[in-house]
Amino acid sequence: MLAFLQRTRTDKYYNQTLRRIFTLWEKIRKGYVYEKTLELCRPLVETNNSLVLDVGAGTGRFYDLIKDHEVIFLDYAEVMINALKQRFGGKERVSIIRGDGRFLPFKESSVSFVVLLRFLAHYEDQMSIILESKRVLRVGGYILLDKVKFLCLTTFLSKLFRIVDFHPSRDFERVLVENGFVVEKKFDYFFLPAIIYTFIPRVLSRIVDTIPFFRCRRFYKVRKI
Ligand SMILES: C[S@@+](CC[C@H](N)C(=O)[O-])C[C@H]1O[C@@H](n2cnc3c(N)ncnc32)[C@H](O)[C@@H]1O
Repeated sequence: MLAFLQRTRTDKYYNQTLRRIFTLWEKIRKGYVYEKTLELCRPLVETNNSLVLDVGAGTGRFYDLIKDHEVIFLDYAEVMINALKQRFGGKERVSIIRGDGRFLPFKESSVSFVVLLRFLAHYEDQMSIILESKRVLRVGGYILLDKVKFLCLTTFLSKLFRIVDFHPSRDFERVLVENGFVVEKKFDYFFLPAIIYTFIPRVLSRIVDTIPFFRCRRFYKVRKI
């Protein structure tokens, strides 16, 4: 009886959490930041039928960017895995794996593209995570990653958002090159807690996007050589 009550309570908690996450992400998905990300990141890879690994996939927000490929969503959190299963379970060419992005359960050179979006900022030692992604990436494959810019509004707010990413971009890029990557593309855009974009008009988002101090996040598309 107790087990039944506990399970019902847990199920209720998950369902409520999932509903909240989906409502929030659905709003953001249709918003300025999401569309801008897709616009700037396309094409992800020139050829279809590549194997794309989305590490720290969350709710699979970037599926539209990778849907022409075989996709593996990997996340550590059970609640995210449930969200992914609810959304993509049973879809052809989509696998959902619970695992740790710092220790990927894949062989060397087994994937063509790794997505590390809004993931690295949670960790101090970002390069070891990038190198773990590099290990499973084939030569010539890409990683799409983002980092918080050093001198921007987010740096000042970072204590609040528990972001630990303070590496100056120049150092970060140098270390990428030293570790066998070519930076093929980089771009900055305005990023605060993305929920803000749900409330401000698009025209205002576009204006703020032109001010360097507010362009808080830098995206990189890097190739393994
Ligand atoms: C800020 S969310 C970003 C989700 C998604 N990439 C996006 O941009 O919408 C970070 C995600 O990384 C996951 N995560 C954090 N540490 C992880 C780890 N070591 N291995 C796998 N997933 C992890 C969290 O569970 C969460 O879903």
